[in-house]
Amino acid sequence: MRGIASSAGLKNRVAKRRVRDDRAARRPASARPGGPRARGAEACERAARRPASAKTPRRTRLHLVARGCPSGYPAGVPTRPVILDCDPGHDDALAILLALARPELRVLGITTVAGNSGVENTTRNALRVLTLLGRTDVPVAAGAARPLVRAGHVADHVHGASGLDGADLPEAAVGPVAEGAVELLARLVRGSPDRVTLVPTGPLTNIARFVRTHAELLPRIAEISIMGGAIGEGNLTASAEFNIWADPEAAAIVLDCGRPVALVPLEVTHAALFRNADIPRLETLGTQTGRVFADLLRFFGIFHHERYGWDGSPIHDAVAVARLVAPGLVTEVPYRVDVETESELTRGRTVVDLHGLRGLPPNVSVGTAIDRPRFIDLLVEAVSRFP
Ligand code: BDR
Ligand code: CA
Repeated sequence: MRGIASSAGLKNRVAKRRVRDDRAARRPASARPGGPRARGAEACERAARRPASAKTPRRTRLHLVARGCPSGYPAGVPTRPVILDCDPGHDDALAILLALARPELRVLGITTVAGNSGVENTTRNALRVLTLLGRTDVPVAAGAARPLVRAGHVADHVHGASGLDGADLPEAAVGPVAEGAVELLARLVRGSPDRVTLVPTGPLTNIARFVRTHAELLPRIAEISIMGGAIGEGNLTASAEFNIWADPEAAAIVLDCGRPVALVPLEVTHAALFRNADIPRLETLGTQTGRVFADLLRFFGIFHHERYGWDGSPIHDAVAVARLVAPGLVTEVPYRVDVETESELTRGRTVVDLHGLRGLPPNVSVGTAIDRPRFIDLLVEAVSRFP
């Protein structure tokens, strides 16, 4: 595994790339009339002008949440409750932002796990992202510090020593809740009037523990939308993707938990590139959030340029959120998928039975392709929702 270069060298390269990108950033983006921010404001105004009798009626199945107009969406949008289980992480940070931005989702809470960095860092990073976005009302619970049975392994060669290097994020204004991740998951799932969708974007340790200790709550889970695995390629080893490799025993438990599971594998996320040429779209928003995420993406891009020669970064984790709000964005096919837990060579490989050779029914909806331009527009629009 190639390590990242010294932080001085890295800063230099980031600075050079910023100058290049700044030159390209001469066009106004979404803040102009008719752009996404303007459309959000217009929608707010329209909602405010509507008589009370014309407002969306209260429904029994779909929970209706009043979202304030400052976030850009009118009140009374039907939402699907979700819990994010993550290890921020640059792409996890964008997954959090996207989930909070979209009116179709209501983020009940965030649980953290060791993965891209130790769990203290990933918890702090989740809280820093929420602080930046002005959403410290979302409860965050710290989860597993290590996998179920394996030794821990962090991805600081990709995300830096903090797990979220490269940008000037505010310090966390609040701390995590006193409960652990599994306790928070159980409390939120139990208390939700609607079935909850889990969105794990790190190693699956917390979710596997939840599945094992709270079987009675599994019928309350609508779906588990996972970023992880691969059909053919690997990124941590030649055989396996990082999240599944990190805790293969946990992944095996979750994939076979009996609830609907969707897997967004590397074949999809490697096609979900946020190109460096698109980074100025965030900066020209003229917001702190836009600047921070532009800096995060520049840092994230360095690893991907060195490893793959790409001119951009795959925003793996945000795809697991995006597929929930944009039907058809990700092409999916049901397959039987099993996780390799015995071999060292192929540890954590997600064995996708493309031709039904095992004669077993499908257990996972596997992503196979993504509409990249639509995905990037979704992300830019989401960033534009925050100050
Ligand atoms: C996954 O590994 C992590 O580094 C990313 O955050 C993503 O969840 C991609 O393999
Ligand atoms: Ca992640």
